[in-house]
Amino acid sequence: MSTPGTSTTDGTAGQTPTQPHVGSVRGRVVTTVPRAPFDPAGGEARPEELVDVRLRVNGAEHHIRVPGRRLLSDALRHDLELTGTHVGCEHGVCGACTVLMDGRPVRACLMFAASAEGSEITTVEGLTRPDGELGPVQQAFVECHGLQCGFCTPGFLTTITAYLDENPDPSPEEAREAVAGNLCRCTGYQNIVKAVCRAAELRREEGDR
Ligand code: FES
Ligand code: FES
Repeated sequence: MSTPGTSTTDGTAGQTPTQPHVGSVRGRVVTTVPRAPFDPAGGEARPEELVDVRLRVNGAEHHIRVPGRRLLSDALRHDLELTGTHVGCEHGVCGACTVLMDGRPVRACLMFAASAEGSEITTVEGLTRPDGELGPVQQAFVECHGLQCGFCTPGFLTTITAYLDENPDPSPEEAREAVAGNLCRCTGYQNIVKAVCRAAELRREEGDR
């Protein structure tokens, strides 16, 4: 016996007048019926509450009104149209979404935008110089061929920027350790490690000027 709203494999049972979607999985028919959001009180589901969030991103003040569970990564990409922050795993594993919050690297896919209220956020767009030239970490990636497809790159650039603030003269071993939390499918990491050391060099040269 079937229950309305359940998935079935024969395409006949479980169908209701709510216009089920019928698809195919490995030759079998699968029927799914859209479910209403669960409401423990049994009443009508209410839309998610909106919250006001004020934050400073790359030096500019922003005020956004977003659902309370809007992720910081989505707020940056969709509400503020800063699409340089990439989203890969959405589970805090790959590091592609890393941004700086008050100078420290955070996984934007693991944070609610509301949690960033009042913070200073730096995304990859904020790593360029005011005149539009590449910043030292970006420049080092170009010089050392530290990227291929570039999907992971924004997360590496922000992570390395924060790391070099703490350790301005890393050894290659320390540089490798610094990027251990960021995943790259393309480069093999050798050139990224070189880029960390080159970025440190460029920053020191700038400091000497
Ligand atoms: S998308 Fe955030 S860590 Fe992978
Ligand atoms: S350059 Fe392609 S994933 Fe890192």
